[in-house]
Amino acid sequence: MSDKKKQVSRRQFLNYSLTGLGGFMAAGMLVPMLRFAIDPVLQAQAEAGDLANVGLSVDDITEEPQRVDWEVLQVDGWYESNINRTAWVFKDEDGEIQAFSPICTHLGCFVSWEGSEDYPNEFFCPCHDGRYYKDGTNVPGTPPLRPLEVYEHAVENGMLYLGEPKPREEA
Ligand code: FES
Repeated sequence: MSDKKKQVSRRQFLNYSLTGLGGFMAAGMLVPMLRFAIDPVLQAQAEAGDLANVGLSVDDITEEPQRVDWEVLQVDGWYESNINRTAWVFKDEDGEIQAFSPICTHLGCFVSWEGSEDYPNEFFCPCHDGRYYKDGTNVPGTPPLRPLEVYEHAVENGMLYLGEPKPREEA
């Protein structure tokens, strides 16, 4: 092979240099864009399993269901907002903490503890007279066909933490 063939021409050198520089600049632009695109998804997954301090001491939980309201930060893609959450919280006869979603499993109205004078000691949904026993199971013959969903919960430093409401089979 001759020396002439090993030499890089000025044109080739310019081509290599510009290709390398172009690739470097493209990578410099693409990496932040990729991170920007993927980050909210990763963050949403990380926050999904988080439990929130609802501001209720475990000592204040009685056998009478009480309404607990709190706010959680919701990240939806790039949009962040505070959303309100509500639970009915009490201790059952075994002293276990129960936290039920107030969302009726029929068509999503708000369920209240002893919401009807006609049905004491039950959860009641005023939209179509839906009823649930104290343990959250639906009263047969009323519109709801599934029990109230249950919040995952934890206790830390004497305070109640609640997560996401889940159907009973998963809770
Ligand atoms: S929405 Fe609750 S009974 Fe229909």
